[in-house]
Amino acid sequence: MPVRFDSKIVLVTGATSGLGRDAAIAFAAAGAKVVVTGRRTDAGEDTLARMRAAGGEGIFVAADVSRPEDAQRVVETATSTFGGLDIAYNVAGISGDAWSKCSDYDITAWNEVVASNLSSMFYCMRFELPEMKKRGGGAIVNMSSVAGLVSTPGGVGYVATKHGIIGLTKAAALDHAADNIRINAIAPGVIYTEMLEAGMKAHPPLEKQMMAKHPIKRFGQLSEVTKAVLWLCSYEASFVTGSTLTVDGGYTIHAAEA
Ligand SMILES: NC(=O)c1ccc[n+]([C@@H]2O[C@H](COP(=O)([O-])OP(=O)(O)OC[C@H]3O[C@@H](n4cnc5c(N)ncnc54)[C@H](O)[C@@H]3O)[C@@H](O)[C@H]2O)c1
Repeated sequence: MPVRFDSKIVLVTGATSGLGRDAAIAFAAAGAKVVVTGRRTDAGEDTLARMRAAGGEGIFVAADVSRPEDAQRVVETATSTFGGLDIAYNVAGISGDAWSKCSDYDITAWNEVVASNLSSMFYCMRFELPEMKKRGGGAIVNMSSVAGLVSTPGGVGYVATKHGIIGLTKAAALDHAADNIRINAIAPGVIYTEMLEAGMKAHPPLEKQMMAKHPIKRFGQLSEVTKAVLWLCSYEASFVTGSTLTVDGGYTIHAAEA
């Protein structure tokens, strides 16, 4: 039987496209009231329209979660609109400078990727957790990547922040296990998105190189990550906390190769 989230209030960051949008629609279709957040209002409204088409309910709050005041405002809007917060899926992230080696990595790009990928996760949890404590429990999933477990070429900022998210997740899970709040990370391999498709068309050799990293011999689908996230947020995963779930077609089975 599919997992249901009736009467649950769910916050999804970075839900204006890609993996966040897919999960927001799936949570809404499964009965949750969903707070969609991202920086682009038109794309946020598009996510809401897709949620409603799936029979769901929710609101959009425009916010840049690399700013603590925005993260706080999103959580306050969620609780003032729906009366609380039960589940959060912190997805927002950027790739940063993906092409430079550490010796040449742009300092501004470093600060941006740390703010958007790692500080944003802390800011969101900082304001999500007190609300979940008031409800007597909750579940959080933080978006990492295979780049949080092994290094991938080109992008020390991305690799460092995705590793940091796993550490942050473990530390927060330990702090809040006794509050009945489970906190886990998810580490996808390469997932097929519109952006990926465009990138592969622009650099055809990249597709072959990236595909070779996946023993399963294909890229993942959005729904394959979303299903794992819904499971982690559900009662079915009631004994799972502080873990990192790989959804990567086997990417991390073998040692990383350049
Ligand atoms: N697609 C993949 O192959 C893949 C694999 C592993 C991990 N991830 C991670 O999944 C997440 C989503 O990636 P995606 O592929 O869906 O890409 P995406 O660019 O479509 O999604 C990222 C979303 O986060 C939003 N965002 C970024 N910074 C933000 C900020 N400061 N405040 C608010 N919103 C912000 C973007 O606007 C966008 O909507 C990212 O964290 C990415 O690192 C993606």
